[in-house]
Amino acid sequence: MSVPSVDINLYGPEMAADPWPVVRHIRELGPLVWNERGQWITAHDRVCRQIMSRHEEATMKGVMTSTFGEGAFITMDDKQSHNALRNVWVHAFGKNGVDGLIPFTRQMIEGRLDAALAMLDADGTVDMQPVFCRPIPAYVIAHMMGVGEEMIPTIVEWSDNMATGTTSGHPIDYENDFYWLRAEKSRADLADFLLEQVQYRRDNPGEDLISRIVHSEIAATTPDWQMVVNLRQLLFAGNETTSNWLGHLVHILGSRPDVRAELAADRSLIPQALEEMLRWLGIVQAVPRMVGEGGMDVAGTHVPEGAHIMALIGAAGRDPERYADPDTFDIHREAKPHLGFGFGMHTCLGAILARMETAQAANALLDRMPPYRFAEPVTYDSFMLRGPSRLVIERAD
Ligand code: HEM
Repeated sequence: MSVPSVDINLYGPEMAADPWPVVRHIRELGPLVWNERGQWITAHDRVCRQIMSRHEEATMKGVMTSTFGEGAFITMDDKQSHNALRNVWVHAFGKNGVDGLIPFTRQMIEGRLDAALAMLDADGTVDMQPVFCRPIPAYVIAHMMGVGEEMIPTIVEWSDNMATGTTSGHPIDYENDFYWLRAEKSRADLADFLLEQVQYRRDNPGEDLISRIVHSEIAATTPDWQMVVNLRQLLFAGNETTSNWLGHLVHILGSRPDVRAELAADRSLIPQALEEMLRWLGIVQAVPRMVGEGGMDVAGTHVPEGAHIMALIGAAGRDPERYADPDTFDIHREAKPHLGFGFGMHTCLGAILARMETAQAANALLDRMPPYRFAEPVTYDSFMLRGPSRLVIERAD
């Protein structure tokens, strides 16, 4: 059977600005499509699920390992080793652990809102992305790690550099690419910082995420460098992702007065509205995998060993085989799990945390932010980790 092919730059500005016609075209071509840029891609929900659940064939080698560093559990294909590390933090990221963070999170969100409202009053406009959306997840994870607030701007910078290192092109020119080299530097700086924290926690234990691994059962068999890459993964994975979800929230509340009014009147609709934003807009648009030994048969095609596969999980949210009228944003649609947080063994560890942060932010915005509109066009810089890069608002009344 011949496989349809396309020639699409997933990293170009057009994909960032409006990916939906392109991913629809990919989906309509077939369940698995060859991209001349060197990747197999799928925009079908069903095939994305297969790829993410067959972790021994579709492996984390390649981009995932070079981004997070060998030894981080997100890069591991072996379930036992993966779970041994993931379990160190599973309670902290579970419902009870996250509920305990609500007072801190709410107070910090109120502080960001104070800052945003003061700018709005003083200047008539405020860009909600850097003032509100970007810092919130960084404050929360820094708090969970027991790291001082003064480190937050630096953590945000390292994390942003790491994100652009892998979302700006494929294949990556590891020797010369500016964004990759800057990401490498930030990865190293963050590792140095975390190593000091690990060593300090050894004699100064606390309840934080760093102390949890330093004083865990597996600490005796886990060298410091491996603790560091695992902690670095936790610091990095939830930053840009959650700030993009907050960005989608700010965008929807400002562009859909009907949705804003409904949520303001009935706060119990907030969780389903947030899930619908993830399904409809997505954040992590593509999950990369590398095919392991012996190749892999998927969607009727043999994909050879060493090939790169991209599961377009954002596009899967608009697959008409799974969702009726998929291009319509409808907070009342029948609840069906989407792939926004991944699937299978590597399903997001921070999903409950991200849901709590965005729900708290939604309540705070509905309580205190006057009706607003966008003073400038809302822009998007990246397809791979998609969210508004500028959200300049002004009062609508
Ligand atoms: C809106 C926010 C978020 C989104 C959309 C998101 C999305 C994802 C996705 C798609 C994966 C699977 C990656 C793959 O299979 O290759 C993943 C994994 C992961 N995420 Fe998230 N994430 C979010 C927030 C967070 C937060 C707040 C944290 C923690 C602070 C976090 C930590 C992780 C970790 C550790 C993994 C790896 C899990 C494993 O390998 O077992 N994420 N996330």
